[in-house]
Amino acid sequence: MPSIRAPHPLPDAPVDPAPPFSAVLRERSRHLHQRAEQSDFVSALLNGRVDRTGYVAMIAQHLCVYEALESVAETLRDDPVAGDFVSEQLTRVPSIRADLAHLTGSPSADGLAVLDSTRRYAERIRANEHWPAGFVAHHYTRYLGDLSGGLAIGAVLARVYGFAPGGDGVRFYRFERIPHPAAFKNDYRARLDAVPWSVAERDRVVDEVLVAYELNTEIFAELAGTYCPGG
Ligand code: HEM
Repeated sequence: MPSIRAPHPLPDAPVDPAPPFSAVLRERSRHLHQRAEQSDFVSALLNGRVDRTGYVAMIAQHLCVYEALESVAETLRDDPVAGDFVSEQLTRVPSIRADLAHLTGSPSADGLAVLDSTRRYAERIRANEHWPAGFVAHHYTRYLGDLSGGLAIGAVLARVYGFAPGGDGVRFYRFERIPHPAAFKNDYRARLDAVPWSVAERDRVVDEVLVAYELNTEIFAELAGTYCPGG
């Protein structure tokens, strides 16, 4: 009787290594990034069809959003996960205030409307004070975006509104303390990849990033309603 042989183990087939989390995050948010990038307000802004009042209105929304981000960052500075992402090099509020001062004569947004969508976004950011991974999702969506397309947007806006590149009026778009944005972003992605989140937690982080994109898009839509009449 032929002996029953143990199944011969197959030679190790090449297996695609799981993509790093940072790549998954980018891939799963690509569609919403595209939507935000192609929104009517952004396209009008970059094409010089938003007047200074509209530009100032957008800066006032930035102030509200980054005050939320940077106050939660302060609270979570010593958190073992979120604390790794918090960096003074990223801080935007003083630059936003400098831009406002240049444009309106005051570093405060008093008298400038905070839109409903902006309020919802800021509340959502603050709600993550007790979920550090969710805060990282919001941190990633804004700051990695600012260090990516944001740099190019700043250059275009300087031209559109007649400011010195990186100077007063467009300081928000210039990270004076990050001389090598590409290296900073690579390091940031490596930190995202290294956090020991479970698969379920990673999924929740991706979902929170999608929420952040949605909220940004809602702000653009609300701004477009007032500052891009007729589309
Ligand atoms: C005119 C509008 C925009 C343009 C032209 C733009 C452009 C870009 C470009 C070219 C990159 C890739 C850079 C790289 O590979 O290093 C990028 C990345 C990114 N953008 Fe934008 N973007 C825009 C709007 C936005 C908005 C509204 C958000 C969210 C609030 C955002 C968030 C991000 C994020 C998080 C990344 C990093 C993706 C990753 O590598 O994980 N962007 N953007």
